[in-house]
Amino acid sequence: MLSYKEIGLVNTNGMFARAVKGGYAVPAFNFNTMEQMQAIIMAAVETKSPVIMQVSKGARNYANATILRYMAEGAVAYAKELGCEHPEIALHLDHGDSFEICKSCIDMGFSSVMFDGSHLPIEENIAITKQVVEYAHQHDVSVEAELGVLAGVEDEVSAAESHYTKPEEVIFFTSQSGCDSLAISIGTSHGAYKFTPEQCTRDPKTGLLVPPPLAFDILHEIEEKLPGFPIVLHGSSSVPQEEVETINKFGGKLPDAIGIPEEQLREAAKSAVCKINIDSDSRLAMTAAIRKTLGENPGYFDPRQYLKPARDAMKNLYVHKIVNVLGSNGKLAQC
Ligand code: G3H
Ligand code: 13P
Ligand code: ZN
Repeated sequence: MLSYKEIGLVNTNGMFARAVKGGYAVPAFNFNTMEQMQAIIMAAVETKSPVIMQVSKGARNYANATILRYMAEGAVAYAKELGCEHPEIALHLDHGDSFEICKSCIDMGFSSVMFDGSHLPIEENIAITKQVVEYAHQHDVSVEAELGVLAGVEDEVSAAESHYTKPEEVIFFTSQSGCDSLAISIGTSHGAYKFTPEQCTRDPKTGLLVPPPLAFDILHEIEEKLPGFPIVLHGSSSVPQEEVETINKFGGKLPDAIGIPEEQLREAAKSAVCKINIDSDSRLAMTAAIRKTLGENPGYFDPRQYLKPARDAMKNLYVHKIVNVLGSNGKLAQC
C-alpha cells in the first residue's frame, strides 16, 4: 500500500472546491505515453494550473498501470524541476469498471478514482459506488461517479429520447453513494465522431457543420438541486478542424470528425462543471504533427525527430485549453 501523498500527488477535493467557487474547470487530460505526460506538465507549469492526469483501462493495457503510476511520480518531480514549487497534480483512474480495479489503483498511489456504473441500474450503481467511496475515503482518495449514459454517435440528441442524466435522481444518487463529484450526460460523447452530419446544421457563412447544443437546461437544473457540488463533463474534445485537415492532407482519413464547440465548454466551465475530460484532441494534435513531420521529411527514422513536434503540439493544445477554454490558469493554491 502506497499513499499518493508520499509521492507528492493531491486528491481533487481542494481543486474542485476552488473551481466551483471561482467559476472555472480543472483540466483532466488522459495520458498513455511519456510525451503526453511531459506535455501535460509543461503546460500546467507554464500556466500555473492544477491538473488531473488520468489513466483509462486502454492506457493500463497499453502502458501498464505500474509504469503510469511511476510516470505520475516523475511528473511531480518534473514540475518542480521546471520551477513550480507547489504543483497540484492528481492521478485519477478514468472509467473504473469494478470495485477491485478502483481498490488496486488506490493501493498503488492514485489520488482519485472514478467508478463508472452509468450502464447499471441505479441501485447497483449506488451500491458499488458506495463500496468504492468507503474504501477510498479511508485513504483520503476522491471518488467520481457517473449518472446518465453518454451519447453515442447514432443516439438521439434531444433530452426526451436520450439517456441524459435525470435531474430528479441526482440528490438521491449523490447522498446515497457519498461520491465526491458527479459525471453527467448532457450531450457530450467520447471520441472524434460525436455527431453524424445529419444531426448537425451547416453554418451558411463558413459551410462548417454545427453540432446540436449541449443540454444546458439539464445542467442548470442539476446545479439547482446540488448547489456547489462538483460536476464533471466527459467527452469534451472539440475536434479542431485544422488538425483533422492536416491529418487528412498527409494521408489520414477522418471524414466528418466533429466535436463540442469550445464556446459551449467555456460556458460549462463557468458553472458547477469543475472537471472537463479531454483525450481525443490530444490524440489528434499528436497524430497531425507526426503525419506532417514524416510527410515533409521522408528521410526521418529517429522517433525523436517526429515525437518532439508531436509533444510540442500537445503542449500547445493543453495550454490553449487551460487558458482559453477552462480558465484554470493561475489557479494553483500556492505558486
Ligand atoms: O474515456 C475514454 C478515454 O478517451 C480513454 O480511451 O480507453 O481508448 O484509452 P481509451
Ligand atoms: P474525448 O474523447 O472527448 O476527449 O473524452 C475523453 C474522456 O471523456 C475521457 O474520460
Ligand atoms: Zn470519459
